[in-house]
Amino acid sequence: MEPFRFHLFVCTQQKPEGVPSCPASGAFAVLDALDREIQARGLGSDVQLTTCGCMGLCDEGPMMVVYPAGIWYRRVQPSDVAEIVSTHLRDGKAVERLIWNDAPAMKAMAVEHGEKFRATMAARDRAGTLPDRLDQMIRGYMPSRCILTALELDIFTAAGNGANAEQIGAALHADPRAVAMLLNALVSLGLLSKSGDAYKNTPECARFFVQGSKDNHRNGLLHIANIWHRWSTLTDAVRRGGRVSIDRGGTPEWTQDFIAAMQRNAKDRAPHVVKSLGTSGVRRILDLGGGSGAYSIAFAKASPEIRCEILDTPEVVPLTAEYINQACVSTQVTLRAGDMLCDDFGSGYDLIMLNAICHMFSEQQNQDLFSRARRALAPHGRLAVQDFILNPDKTGPQHAALFSLNMLVATDSGASYSEPEYTRWMKAASFIEVCRIPLPGPSSLIVGQSS
Ligand SMILES: C[S@@+](CC[C@H](N)C(=O)[O-])C[C@H]1O[C@@H](n2cnc3c(N)ncnc32)[C@H](O)[C@@H]1O
Ligand code: FES
Repeated sequence: MEPFRFHLFVCTQQKPEGVPSCPASGAFAVLDALDREIQARGLGSDVQLTTCGCMGLCDEGPMMVVYPAGIWYRRVQPSDVAEIVSTHLRDGKAVERLIWNDAPAMKAMAVEHGEKFRATMAARDRAGTLPDRLDQMIRGYMPSRCILTALELDIFTAAGNGANAEQIGAALHADPRAVAMLLNALVSLGLLSKSGDAYKNTPECARFFVQGSKDNHRNGLLHIANIWHRWSTLTDAVRRGGRVSIDRGGTPEWTQDFIAAMQRNAKDRAPHVVKSLGTSGVRRILDLGGGSGAYSIAFAKASPEIRCEILDTPEVVPLTAEYINQACVSTQVTLRAGDMLCDDFGSGYDLIMLNAICHMFSEQQNQDLFSRARRALAPHGRLAVQDFILNPDKTGPQHAALFSLNMLVATDSGASYSEPEYTRWMKAASFIEVCRIPLPGPSSLIVGQSS
């Protein structure tokens, strides 16, 4: 049985640099073009497009196979895609010039490839060579560091639509030789293109990293660049059991980048949180550590009857005010500067939110927060915690386990916590009907109700 009229498999097997592979011959550009063309022609419900691993025909890539007939295409280029979609996927006639149907030759090549691959792996194993997976993990910081430095220096804005290393160096007050080295590395990573001695942004980088672009993420991403410096203290933090102070952080720029980063994450999650928690019976909300205010803004926009109060630090509240004003919800969202660890919360709230808060604090601080939140809720009010939640044995999901270390290097006593821990704290604070609500993406909600 075939649920779709056609099922396409495009090989996207990554191989080490210099080794023939479908991605090295342009498989990802073909995949993108196929996806766009299939949607543009309204064939999305007839055609299933799937990536697959190596078929052993790497020298002839990019390879793709179309089922149910089992038509193999080789050396497919983006320029072939319109014809494949209109002739084959719409009209049902295979594109003859791209077909490879010399079964004996294909089989011989695939078998030889498999034998060579197994022989190479066996030789590497005998020689005690470090597996590629481990080697790549160890060097994984290099591409990350290149892009973070490019963001810090604002290289992408300086490169714009075309500039040479001297011009970019002069604009950034940086050494032209070193700038050229960084620019070439960025080209190797597919983040810039180079023609003659001029570098320019790829469409993707022009969209996401250049100042003035509508979808510019640079400000939010600079927080990750800031945190990178803290991660370089991880070894000492593990030895000492706590964060190591470094000569960074706490400046107005740092706080601005931090809140921009919070906004970058929260604005996409907020509608899902509103949908999951609902607005029925919700009139007064306390948003503890509201940051950019994204969650309060989303609730305010969901119902004109809702009133939110954001409590955040004195340094952050003026930044929050800007986001609230931009969103035109200042009649519904009020701000309070203070310290959630010791301030009185007030009373009568229908919902208290702790979005991305508990990971900053210790177990005791969270237990205290939950108890004080419980006392500030109206009858049947809810406490909603949103965070990266660990499995009971704390070894995953990977995002939450790595984020725990982010808290080790960045806070005095923060960590990622597990669902049993959150549930225990909720129950200790007399919350009832405690449940977990998964959200799209890496975070979940844990919700408890006051009786
Ligand atoms: C990780 S951010 C989360 C922001 C927001 N809830 C969100 O999810 O986008 C933590 C927020 O808590 C605030 N914060 C940290 N410690 C606080 C404290 N003791 N009292 C009040 N706010 C605090 C920070 O300023 C920041 O805005
Ligand atoms: S990498 Fe695509 S067939 Fe081998």
